[in-house]
Amino acid sequence: MNDTVYFDPACDDDERRRRLFEGQLFVYAPRPSSLAFVEFTRKLVEDAFAPLDPRTAQYHMPVDEYAQLLGKLKPSFIHHPESKRHIQRMLNEFGCDLDTTYFDVPKLRSSTSDEYLTSGIAYAWHPHRDTWYSAPPCQINWWFPVYEITSDNAMAFHPRYFKEGVANTSAGYNYYLWNQQFRGAQVASITKSDPRPLPKPTQPVEMNPQIRLVVPPGSLIMFSGAQLHSSVPNTSGVTRFSIDFRLVNSEDARAQRGAPNVDAQCTGTTMRDYLRGSDLSHVPEEIIKMYDDETAQQGGMLYQPTTA
Ligand SMILES: [Fe+2]
Repeated sequence: MNDTVYFDPACDDDERRRRLFEGQLFVYAPRPSSLAFVEFTRKLVEDAFAPLDPRTAQYHMPVDEYAQLLGKLKPSFIHHPESKRHIQRMLNEFGCDLDTTYFDVPKLRSSTSDEYLTSGIAYAWHPHRDTWYSAPPCQINWWFPVYEITSDNAMAFHPRYFKEGVANTSAGYNYYLWNQQFRGAQVASITKSDPRPLPKPTQPVEMNPQIRLVVPPGSLIMFSGAQLHSSVPNTSGVTRFSIDFRLVNSEDARAQRGAPNVDAQCTGTTMRDYLRGSDLSHVPEEIIKMYDDETAQQGGMLYQPTTA
C-alpha cells in the first residue's frame, strides 16, 4: 500500500476520516483559527518563562525548576476555558460537524534539546500508538507546532507498521488504573529515568524509513491514533513546543468504524474524556458501553473523566 500525505485537500471530513483510518496523513496550511490558538499559547508559554525565551530557557534553568514550571504551565493550558473555545473554532473552520465531533482537552507538549529533560512532564516519546493507551480505533489526532520546527525537532511517523503488528506491553495497561496512579502533580518531579510503565514495543522497531513533516506554526498534521509515531530526538538546540488534541466522531464510534487494531491489548477506554464540539456534553453512555469493559468498576472505583 502507498503512504500518501494529503496537503490542503478539498475533501470533506467524512472522506478525510475514512482516509485517515487507512493510514494516510493530512497536512493543512495555517488558518485563522489555528493561528489564533498558536498566538494564545505563545502568550501563556512566554508569560510562564519570562523574562527567558521559552525556546532556550532550558539553558538557563536547573532542570528541577524547569520541570516544576512545566508542571504548572501545562495543566493551566489544558484546562483553560479559552483552549476549548479555540478547538471549537478550529473544528468549525476545518470542516467538522460540531454535533458529532467530540474532542479531548488539548495537550501542550515540549521537547527539550540535547536530552536536557526527556522524562515525566516532557517525556520523549518512544514509538507508540495511542491505541496502546486505550484510545478507540476511530480516534484521530490533530497536531501543530507553536514555533518553527526543523527536521531535528519534529515528530516522526512509522507508517509501515500501520498494518503490521508490533509486539508491545499494552496488555498491562489499564486506563483507569493509570489515571489513578499517575495523573497529577507528581509527574513534574520525574526528571531522570521515567518509572511509569508506559506501553512500549518489546521487539526492535525499524525506525527508518520514517516520515517527518516540517510545517510552520499553526499548520495542522492529522493522523489516526493507530499510527505508530515517536518524538524525534531533539538535537536542534531549541525546545520544541506543540499542541495536540484527539477527536472522535460519534457516528464512527457507533458504527465501530476506525483503523484496524493490529496489536493493542490494553483495557479501559478514553471514550469518557471526549466533549462534544457543540455543547461540551460527553459521548452518549450507550456508545461508551460499546468500548468499555469490566475494569471501569473494578474495586468499586469508577473512573472520573475530565469535566467540561
Ligand atoms: Fe501519541
